[in-house]
Amino acid sequence: MKIPVIVCVDDERTVLNSLQTELMNALGDDYLIEPAESGLDALEIIEELLEDGIELPVVISDQIMPGIKGDELLTRIHAIAPKTLTILLTGQADAEAIGKAVNSANLYRYIPKPWESTDLHLTVTEAIKSYFQDKELEQFYARLQEKVAEHTRELQQKNELLSIAVHDLKNPLSAIQGFSEMIQSDFDDIPEEVIEIADQIVTSSRQMFELVKNLLEVNAIESGKINVSLNVLDIRPTLQWVVNQSIEMAKAKNITLQFQCLEKHYHALVDKNILRQVFDNIISNAVKYSPYGKHIYVRLRQDDKYVRCEIQDEGLGLSLEDQQKLFGQFTRLTPKPTGGEHSTGLGLFIVKKLVDSMHGKVWCESELGQGTTFIVELKVA
Ligand SMILES: Nc1ncnc2c1ncn2[C@@H]1O[C@H](COP(=O)(O)OP(=O)(O)OP(=O)(O)O)[C@@H](O)[C@H]1O
Ligand SMILES: [Mg+2]
Repeated sequence: MKIPVIVCVDDERTVLNSLQTELMNALGDDYLIEPAESGLDALEIIEELLEDGIELPVVISDQIMPGIKGDELLTRIHAIAPKTLTILLTGQADAEAIGKAVNSANLYRYIPKPWESTDLHLTVTEAIKSYFQDKELEQFYARLQEKVAEHTRELQQKNELLSIAVHDLKNPLSAIQGFSEMIQSDFDDIPEEVIEIADQIVTSSRQMFELVKNLLEVNAIESGKINVSLNVLDIRPTLQWVVNQSIEMAKAKNITLQFQCLEKHYHALVDKNILRQVFDNIISNAVKYSPYGKHIYVRLRQDDKYVRCEIQDEGLGLSLEDQQKLFGQFTRLTPKPTGGEHSTGLGLFIVKKLVDSMHGKVWCESELGQGTTFIVELKVA
């Protein structure tokens, strides 16, 4: 391995000699001490060292020299060898030069002239130690980054494989569902038990279809593959549409679903399809977790900055502990579906990500036994 070099610069030959001798005595054979009598000489030497790939932990330069001054020289060295630590020797307290060198040459230390031997040794040894420690740290980070990148690639590959597998479940599932529906409706003289079993197969395959759809959605969100196209739209018709779609489901549980708003239009910056999905999730939850015979209120409000949609139910409500977990993945909390509906625990996780993608906010306000209100806040522009 090539021996690291310490470059010393001073225009006075005697000073340079004594600097070189002292450093050779202090550092032994582990480092070469290269003297330079001017800034230009030093730059030439350093360029050659760098070209040869030789380590240059420290450069020590006098300040007052003809031609290039010490602070300027160290600045130029810092530009071509940014890791090298620079030390300035000053004959008099030259605050301005030190200040400049600190700012533009990343000065490690300055040593007043005439220097004290112990001060010089200590400063140079510390600088060398610091240079190699920084280098080791940098190599460690580079290795770490490489490992992280490798693991991320592996994870992405696994994710892609999984999403292909999940996606391919859709076709056989549709076939199972289709054949069971045929058993239910296309044949005469089928025993009652078989019809019941076919019913269960249809229900189970619908649930599984729902899970597959949610898993694919989560995967699309996490790999940044959802397309979001934000436009200023009147969100009232979209919300009205979702409410209309859910009325039948609510009626089956004797739940009333009321849509209340004062204005004709509520313009906000949204993606229509994403918004529909968000409202559908929250309103279907309200129906799913409300006991029979209750009311659900859907309201729209607006001010200068936001349109707010509130979905209020009269269900069990959520404890503070449950509220904290609400938007996580696979969270099934204390409230259970009241009509035997299916639950995968992904709906609100998806809702949160989708609302984030429209730069909106979603949260819930609830007290145990007092029902729950979900609030979606969307930006006006
Ligand atoms: N309006 C609500 N009232 C009471 N609890 C609720 C309400 N909405 C959600 N929860 C609770 O939060 C949990 C998570 O809801 P989320 O919508 O994420 O999943 P899910 O409804 O269980 O399944 P799915 O993925 O089919 O939506 C639910 O299991 C339920 O315990
Ligand atoms: Mg849900």
